[in-house]
Amino acid sequence: MMKDVRILLVGEPKVGKTSLVMSLVREEFPNKVPLRVKEITIPADMTPERVRTHIVDYSEAEQTKEQLYQEISKANVICIVYSVNNKKSIEKVTSHWIPLINNHTDKESRVPLILVGNKLDLVEHSSMETIRPIMNRYQDIKICIECSAKNLENISEVFSCAQKAAVHPMGEKAFLLFCPEEKK
Ligand code: GTP
Ligand code: MG
Repeated sequence: MMKDVRILLVGEPKVGKTSLVMSLVREEFPNKVPLRVKEITIPADMTPERVRTHIVDYSEAEQTKEQLYQEISKANVICIVYSVNNKKSIEKVTSHWIPLINNHTDKESRVPLILVGNKLDLVEHSSMETIRPIMNRYQDIKICIECSAKNLENISEVFSCAQKAAVHPMGEKAFLLFCPEEKK
């Protein structure tokens, strides 16, 4: 049985990593956020898998590359956050973030990756068609989920999916698409 789960959030600046964490904790969208929130610990009995869980935010503006590499090597699951209204933040998932994570983890002990598409409130269409080929290409990507920190849509699901992926890393690759309801 796993003792603790460390969930690390990475991704391009301004995609909403800090807002996601604060929306989860406060159950309210914060209008102003710091660049980075301190590590948050959720007691085991308040989580779906009953494992004490740490949520770790990252900010390029506040932290060094070395600190990032250290967090990557300590993480049990990594959420790569992009913004559904920002193509560049999606491109960087494969051109930057996945190679960087792979370079700082052992091939034998790769951690599960979750793709998190934030700011769903700003678009009419899902980013799933763009994301699906990426999911198919990388074995370590376990789940892809779209959410809105602003509307508190799928926020608790992001963290429960991450926790599940960490606790059951040998589980079959799940193409678990949490699509929002069709927008009318
Ligand atoms: P860095 O710390 O600089 O890497 O950025 P970050 O990824 O932590 O993003 P942050 O949480 O600071 O959010 C960046 C901007 O996006 C802020 O103005 C947020 O209010 C806004 N934002 C975050 N999430 C959402 C969302 O779901 N919808 C909308 N519309 N705006 C959001
Ligand atoms: Mg931040």
